Amino acid sequence: MIFFIDTANIEEIREASTWGIISGVTTNPSLIAKENRPLLDAIKEITELINGPISAEVQEGNADEMVEEAFQYARMHPNIVIKVPMTFEGIKATKRLTSYQIRTNVTLIFTVSQAIMAAKAGATYVSPFLGRLDDYCESKEAGAELVKDIRTAFDNYHYPSKIIAASIRHPEHVRQAALFGADVATIPYKVLRQMIEHPLTTKGLALFRQAAQK
Ligand code: G3P
Repeated sequence: MIFFIDTANIEEIREASTWGIISGVTTNPSLIAKENRPLLDAIKEITELINGPISAEVQEGNADEMVEEAFQYARMHPNIVIKVPMTFEGIKATKRLTSYQIRTNVTLIFTVSQAIMAAKAGATYVSPFLGRLDDYCESKEAGAELVKDIRTAFDNYHYPSKIIAASIRHPEHVRQAALFGADVATIPYKVLRQMIEHPLTTKGLALFRQAAQK
């Protein structure tokens, strides 16, 4: 499983990139809005920091509008992946972008059937949202079960679309994504840090430090 960072914050991307384990970036309109800067500027700067797939999301609209907006982003850099919402028009747009060999990430996936439709339209990536589905279902397993079922369906029919476990809220979601066969986990900066730090590691180091001073 490879890791993308789920943020549009340049400092977070810069810091996480120094760890050497980040292969790409996903953004969405909410993450871009938090940064108070034009989407194109943010995306351009991200392409300079990370040499891997960078998802830029088109606004919901009709397929023509989404494809036109997608061209604008795709022209910016070969690493740009177009994030397309899981709607009727989004499926049409995905199919057309695929025919132009523009990579897509179909987002806001909450069922296996949505993932299959996206795969049939040629999506490079599908993004099931674990955290939001867990919240909606009031369950700690709903998102994980979704990833597992999409994995099975894609394997059954050899769909090449990659599964991105998204809407990750804590390290447990990353564990679930890994156990159930997601290709990618896109992880917020805070959760990436939580995946490295542990109170017992900190305590163990303090003990070793004391021992070394004796
Ligand atoms: O990648 C999708 C993600 O950004 C959504 O996360 O926490 O808003 O559900 P969240």
